[in-house]
Amino acid sequence: MHYNFDEVVDRSQNYAAKFEEAVLHYGTNNVIPLWIADMDFRTAPCIVDAIKARADQGIFGYTWRTPKYFESVANWQQKRNGWLPDVDRMAFAPGVVPGMRMMLTMFTQPGDKVIIQQPVYHPFADVVNNTGRELVVSPLKRDENGYYTMDYADFEKKAQGAKYFILCNPHNPVGRAWTKEELRKVGEICVRLGVRIISDEIHSDLMLDGHKHVCMASVSPEIAAITTTCIAPSKTFNLAGLQSSTIVFDDVERKDAYVAELKKMDIARNNCFSLVATMAAYEHGEPWLDELLVYLSGNMRFIREFCAARLPELKPNTPEATYLCWIDARALGMGDEELKKFCVEKAGVAFGEGAEFGFGGSGFLRLNAACPRVTIEKALTQMEKAVHSR
Ligand SMILES: Cc1ncc(COP(=O)(O)O)c(C=O)c1O
Repeated sequence: MHYNFDEVVDRSQNYAAKFEEAVLHYGTNNVIPLWIADMDFRTAPCIVDAIKARADQGIFGYTWRTPKYFESVANWQQKRNGWLPDVDRMAFAPGVVPGMRMMLTMFTQPGDKVIIQQPVYHPFADVVNNTGRELVVSPLKRDENGYYTMDYADFEKKAQGAKYFILCNPHNPVGRAWTKEELRKVGEICVRLGVRIISDEIHSDLMLDGHKHVCMASVSPEIAAITTTCIAPSKTFNLAGLQSSTIVFDDVERKDAYVAELKKMDIARNNCFSLVATMAAYEHGEPWLDELLVYLSGNMRFIREFCAARLPELKPNTPEATYLCWIDARALGMGDEELKKFCVEKAGVAFGEGAEFGFGGSGFLRLNAACPRVTIEKALTQMEKAVHSR
């Protein structure tokens, strides 16, 4: 290992949302914060160097996006996923969620149906509800081993008349890396019913234990023709604070309309640091990422072994992708508010609250495992003590 993911980095002067905003969500920041999805690891040195070199120039004026920028995004996709997206259909977004919100506002009407599969990253429901569109939920199916699959019959029934399907690929929080066959099945339903797809692939670089990411737009030409893909280096390289993502549109007309809207709001440019950081990440960050993935798999294994041996009341899943572990805590027999209060007040740990992820999330916890193993060990040991002294 060249990189030390065991190092505990002091984030107290980092203005980190996971500490500062914990007060808003959990009533205290005196907790181990395993909720919001960013990493406690220093990013790849090549990215830090690129940002430092840019900072040393001392001029932070308006930034022009060199063609190399989207080329680096395209080349990365080809190298990692075997999918070469068209740079002419790429556009900048200050984040995946704001990009999604803009697409819904621009390409659907109030009251139009948008379908999602819960439990899922809760801003999917929020963007639909907050834009006055009608939220349609097709629940995922969960087997007794905690393995999730899509319910195609339910999806087909509910997707009738929907304008968009927001797909989480791979899936946060249940950790599925959807296979080509699964994507084909749900994609063909969308083709048949005339439902366009927004495929959120923000976690697609975080593939664990040899699982391969399949880009929805690579499944078939028919599916590619209705699929807009959202990608970003933010989860992969811990750059969420730089706020830059890429949207690969299904056609040039929609891309042009979207970019025109970005320009009207004067948010079409990268900031100077996200520009160099993204290129550095995609051009030179691969060795760092490959080591990170090994470390993350080790963290997931540690969680499973710890819970099996010392905390059987918590049943963690085995995520195929993402750094998020989805834990079934229903054996504790608590309601959602009680569970949250218990974790925060008795164990001193802030997990993501399962209920926030919608249908099927009640009684679950989401643990962000992108931190040194010692942090996870401390959090689980505190949980163990709290649970066994109830
Ligand atoms: C599936 C998914 N999409 C989007 C985001 C957030 O993206 P952004 O910060 O670019 O809006 C997250 C963050 O956790 C996520 O898990």
